[in-house]
Amino acid sequence: MSRSNPLTLGTDREAALHHTAQIVLRAWKDFDQAREEEHVPSASLIARLQEPLPATGISAMSGLDLAAEVLDTSLAQSRPRYLAYIGSSGLEIGALADLLAHSYDVNLALDARAASLMDHQTLKWLGEFLGFPSGGGAFTSGGTISNITALVAARERAIPGSRFNGLGSTTPVVYCSADAHYSVRRGIELLGIGSRNLRGVPIDNERRLSPTALRDMITSDMASGLTPIAVVATGGTTLIGAVDPIDAIADICEEFGIWLHIDGAYGLPAAATTERVSVFSGLARADSISIDAHKWMYVPKACSAVMVRDRNSLVSVFSHEEAYIPHDGAVLNAVDYTLEYSRPLRALKLWLAFMVHGADEFRAAISQNLQQAQLLYDLADASSHLEVMPIRPSLSIVPLRAVPSDVPDLNAFNAALCDAIQADGRVYLSQAVIDGEVWLRPCFTNFRTTQDDVHVTFAVIVELIEKLQSTKE
Ligand SMILES: Cc1ncc(COP(=O)(O)O)c(C=O)c1O
Repeated sequence: MSRSNPLTLGTDREAALHHTAQIVLRAWKDFDQAREEEHVPSASLIARLQEPLPATGISAMSGLDLAAEVLDTSLAQSRPRYLAYIGSSGLEIGALADLLAHSYDVNLALDARAASLMDHQTLKWLGEFLGFPSGGGAFTSGGTISNITALVAARERAIPGSRFNGLGSTTPVVYCSADAHYSVRRGIELLGIGSRNLRGVPIDNERRLSPTALRDMITSDMASGLTPIAVVATGGTTLIGAVDPIDAIADICEEFGIWLHIDGAYGLPAAATTERVSVFSGLARADSISIDAHKWMYVPKACSAVMVRDRNSLVSVFSHEEAYIPHDGAVLNAVDYTLEYSRPLRALKLWLAFMVHGADEFRAAISQNLQQAQLLYDLADASSHLEVMPIRPSLSIVPLRAVPSDVPDLNAFNAALCDAIQADGRVYLSQAVIDGEVWLRPCFTNFRTTQDDVHVTFAVIVELIEKLQSTKE
């Protein structure tokens, strides 16, 4: 390559790399403690972000500084008091791994030699960490793609040849709890099953799928000539972190010969802890699982995994012959068992994180988040300002809401409280609607969060409730 080739950094290269390292170090130090307020973009930055496409470039240093300013004034899930939604937290070694992976830009569509071996090893390690006997699978871009991948395999097993013939006169049905993540519905729609054929199984008073109701629904559907394809049990619902009773559901799936998929995108890492392993009892009986390492395994997005007990279930639905991607004898290409074609080496960040921190340190971080959820629950439960759910958090989501006695519309008050918390900036929370009620929904999935952050979060919520009340008087 000539140094005058377009798009090379040329002599700026070393300085640009060094400058990036300084920016990253500054950011990591800044993430160590929560900020007292959010930084917002300046008027000049907003103006820059509306400029038209540049025909010629600026120096790498100036470009990097601009990028750093954008990132510094963005909502970053890496901050220790970012407790909204289900965050990832930019694990440091994972971020470095991404720089390496993207620099080499390996493609896992085909065998990539050592990188493919690493990919397989990481998937095996992850299965071992969670207690799932992985027969194969893939790292994907997210829980949505992982769930869809598993559902395609389930459809093919229930209706062999459906990948070629379509569904014909068969009416397939899929079951999941009424609180399952929307990605399941999206998958059902994409697979041509139709969301009308997705059964929202009633939940019990802990918001877990009811096995009795599941059995009744399956029996009735089969009597009507419908074809059950899969049951999706959630290992940690997005709404409150409920874990469906996997063992009881596995009994039913075995009895009727139905594929069992566990959507553990959020909650499954808790299965690796001694405190919560029993909540996931039966996990090893599932046909497939989804797990987002970019949620509660802390690595940067995107790093999800879908695992199956039997790799042939993926091969039977994805294998193919194409002139531009020939086979070396009977050896499979990765694209013979993955939904995606070009795939980056997502496994590297998890592989390096396991290598550098070891499984025990991961368990310790997950346990810490579990304890933080219990602490916030206890603080809120003891407060006259707040209401918590009657059941303790089984994982790390702690729904809570303000219950001031003199407020006519609690939903409006709690929505205003959430806005006030976000505007205040010391803590970042999101809201969720549970059975028609607006709740705050802190979720602990960040390795940087401390017990002190939990106390500050509680104090900020109470302070802003009092402030909101006083402005309404
Ligand atoms: C239980 C569950 N499944 C699936 C998903 C979708 O994951 P992703 O956003 O990685 O596609 C989520 C996201 O929060 C989730 O909580």
